[in-house]
Amino acid sequence: MLNRASAIAAKISSQEEVLIVTHIDADGITSGAIAHLSLERRGIENKLKFVKQLDEAEIEKIKDENVFVWFTDLGSGQLEFLDGIEFVITDHHVPQHPHPMQLNPHDFGYDGTVELSGSGATYLVSKFLIRGKNLLDYVNGGCLLPLAIVGAVGDLQDSRWGKLQGINREIAEEGRMGGNIDIVRDLRFFGKQTRPVAKMLEYNSDPFIPGLTGNEKGVLEFLTSLEIEPWMRWIDLSMEERKRIVSAIVNLAMEYRLPYTSILRIVGESYILLNEPEGTEKRDAMEFSTLLNATARYNNADVGLGVCLGDEGAYRRARTLLQNHRRNLSNGIRFVDENGIEEMKYLKFFHAGSNIPDTIVGIVAGMCFHKGNKEKPIVAFAESDKGIKVSARATYRLVERGIHLAKALRRAAESVGGAGGGHSVAAGATIPEGKEEEFLKILDEIIGKQLQKQ
Ligand code: C5P
Ligand code: ZN
Repeated sequence: MLNRASAIAAKISSQEEVLIVTHIDADGITSGAIAHLSLERRGIENKLKFVKQLDEAEIEKIKDENVFVWFTDLGSGQLEFLDGIEFVITDHHVPQHPHPMQLNPHDFGYDGTVELSGSGATYLVSKFLIRGKNLLDYVNGGCLLPLAIVGAVGDLQDSRWGKLQGINREIAEEGRMGGNIDIVRDLRFFGKQTRPVAKMLEYNSDPFIPGLTGNEKGVLEFLTSLEIEPWMRWIDLSMEERKRIVSAIVNLAMEYRLPYTSILRIVGESYILLNEPEGTEKRDAMEFSTLLNATARYNNADVGLGVCLGDEGAYRRARTLLQNHRRNLSNGIRFVDENGIEEMKYLKFFHAGSNIPDTIVGIVAGMCFHKGNKEKPIVAFAESDKGIKVSARATYRLVERGIHLAKALRRAAESVGGAGGGHSVAAGATIPEGKEEEFLKILDEIIGKQLQKQ
């Protein structure tokens, strides 16, 4: 794999100008930032373009630019359309086939869903590009290695085992050795740096904890009974107070007979960016990635890029966007609560119409997974300017039982004139309007067959 990374870096080095094309999510932004920073360091002129989805229309526009392209966090699923472009790819989505200028963990026996992200693959190539210079230095205010960790966490690659595995783990260890990443065992809830502990517990939904998740009153009673001040942040609590909370949560989870795998996920690793100020979103990889999603998914990926590059103005703007993102997520969840989730034989679904932006319907689907039958993956539809956006989410337990959403969505979408792809546990597609029912029928059958094959 490193030979491939080195060959790709050599190819890039021979260019005078590079167009980086990347994905509009946290992993995409960090991938783009890593590529950009390493090209800057190498003195290669470069531009960055964010795309929502690399479809044929987008590829035609890129072809017209007539320039060498570095695709990051996308491209592997669209190889067949790239003829006529001179390119390299650093991606982790399920590839259509291997390619000599593609660095994708799937081609090397790794699971691209958990063992390496788009930003991680980009980082491996960047290391060769800037060889001989200290990678752990800040480059133009940004730093490459921590960004690769933020990208992996942004794609929830640490959620399967409660910690990063595979090549991700090697990168994290490298960061620890270099002194700019700390790996700590802690509660794996969102908001440890920035939110009052009461809000952190109320808004946590993975795993869903009866009595706490979504229950403000329940949380306040819980904290009062433990003699914890609810408006303190997690990082301000003493170790003893944190332990008291963690063991009470685990007890609660056992009492409600949560699956063992869910209980194990309550505590796990957190990745601390030691070069960032404490108490800010940028200090914790999980919060950093959410901050980036809050920019990219609202047409403001440039702001997210600025955050990665250390721009303070961009950071302030991103925090405002984060408030808007939170509001949209909670409105989305409320929509699902009010309208319900329908069940088919092997899947469950909801149609958001124009009520949830297509760029965050996947996040909402993931957050609502536990509201329906947990044995079935969730499929969500939303209107978009290119037809109907489909997002699907499963659990690793379902993946172990044979479900592979990227394969299922790709086939089902293609059979109704759309396109899709992604990962085993999270995938997406776009299909023509009006084809939802037909698509669901086909998808239900495919998922049924995937389960039977096991
Ligand atoms: O958009 P959403 O968050 O649901 O996407 C889930 C995963 O599926 C992402 O990794 C995305 O890149 C992938 N996807 C894809 N093709 C699409 C839509 C999404 O490969 N048409
Ligand atoms: Zn990714």
